[in-house]
Amino acid sequence: MQWFQKGRFVCFILQVCAVFSAEGYSVNKVTGERFAGPVTMVVTIVGQQQCVKECLARPKLCKGVNYLKKHLLCEVVSSTEESEPSSDYTRISIDHQMNEINNCHVCTTNQKCVQLSSNSSYCVKEDSDMNDCGAYHNSTPFLPSGLYRIKLPVVGHVTALCEMDIDGGGWTVFQRRLNGTEDFYRTWVEYKNGFGNLTAEFWFGNEKLYHLLSQGSYELRMDMSDFTNQTRYVKYSNVGLTDEITKYTISLSNYSGNVEDCFTRASGINNMKFTTRDQDNDPYLTANCANLYPSGWWHNQCHCANPNGLYLDGQTNQFGKGITYNPWLTQYYSLKTISLMVRRV
Ligand SMILES: *[C@@H]1O[C@H](CO)[C@@H](O)[C@H](O)[C@H]1NC(C)=O
Ligand SMILES: *[C@@H]1O[C@H](CO)[C@@H](O)[C@H](O)[C@H]1NC(C)=O
Ligand SMILES: *[C@@H]1O[C@H](CO)[C@@H](O)[C@H](O)[C@H]1NC(C)=O
Ligand SMILES: *[C@@H]1O[C@H](CO)[C@@H](O)[C@H](O)[C@H]1NC(C)=O
Ligand SMILES: *[C@@H]1O[C@H](CO)[C@@H](O)[C@H](O)[C@H]1NC(C)=O
Repeated sequence: MQWFQKGRFVCFILQVCAVFSAEGYSVNKVTGERFAGPVTMVVTIVGQQQCVKECLARPKLCKGVNYLKKHLLCEVVSSTEESEPSSDYTRISIDHQMNEINNCHVCTTNQKCVQLSSNSSYCVKEDSDMNDCGAYHNSTPFLPSGLYRIKLPVVGHVTALCEMDIDGGGWTVFQRRLNGTEDFYRTWVEYKNGFGNLTAEFWFGNEKLYHLLSQGSYELRMDMSDFTNQTRYVKYSNVGLTDEITKYTISLSNYSGNVEDCFTRASGINNMKFTTRDQDNDPYLTANCANLYPSGWWHNQCHCANPNGLYLDGQTNQFGKGITYNPWLTQYYSLKTISLMVRRV
């Protein structure tokens, strides 16, 4: 535990320059670790003390910071519950109680508390322009993979899983399977809103994905692995999604990858509507594909790959029901891991 004395600092954020004075606050530092987040904002080119001040100025958004000295990088995090080893980082949890005297707690999540040299403080609007994981990555290329707060049109602020390492980084992950802990045989509303846990298995949500992709041109990548740790990926340099009224119809084009294409061929998902067990939008006339092959997906008649299928642990005699990718390991093999992600191009 360290105690800081009353100090005076100048803030340059948002072009607001104010003299900052703190009554004293307590912090708890651990080196060689970082908080798993979510990261709610990133401040670059700051010293460690200023990094702490950035947190104190945002009590609703910040419980602590990850400080990376070698890049003078300050990651503001909204949770300090989980941390992970990370050699160059110092993680600092921050007790806002000591700061309450300045009335900063009246500021909302989208305001920054600006304190004057007297005891008065005021809240100034602060709107993040981080509208996907690529925005974070482009602003600060060495940010690690993990949870980040992004702002989507209409939906507003949400937490997203950002893949910052694979294939140049900057990917917003919208689906992940790891070990079968989450049930993916879900309803329309659940697929619309998203489910699961971003730190494990999840579906981000069709409505969020729609608003995310509405922001510009995006590419899509899907990564897979089997139980011998072989990996494959496919990529499409163009992906689009329509709204709920038109059933979240997906469009994909321009395949590349190290396993045969499955999504843009005749039986693929291109131009397919989303189908769930309670809403049959697939072109298969005699049954609901989401029921036949337990999942929610852009089914055709029915599928060539079933990323949201049952977690069946490898070889199976249940045709097409597992997490399959037919051109690689057939409809009789359920993959170990799979993830789908998008990046602005
Ligand atoms: C600021 O607050 C402290 C503690 O409540 C008080 O002692 C001091 O007089 C205040 N100063 C001003 C300028 O209001
Ligand atoms: C998500 O997983 C993390 C880590 O296992 C856990 O701490 C957290 O409580 C989970 N959240 C939910 C909503 O299940
Ligand atoms: C599944 O993976 C998540 C994330 O790594 C982990 O928190 C969870 O404990 C795992 N569950 C099982 C049953 O292995
Ligand atoms: C696959 O990778 C995991 C994690 O790296 C490792 O624990 C496991 O032993 C590997 N399995 C095989 C069959 O190589
Ligand atoms: C197709 O994808 C490749 C990368 O795989 C990219 O270089 C090319 O520009 C894309 N073509 C179109 C028409 O989008």
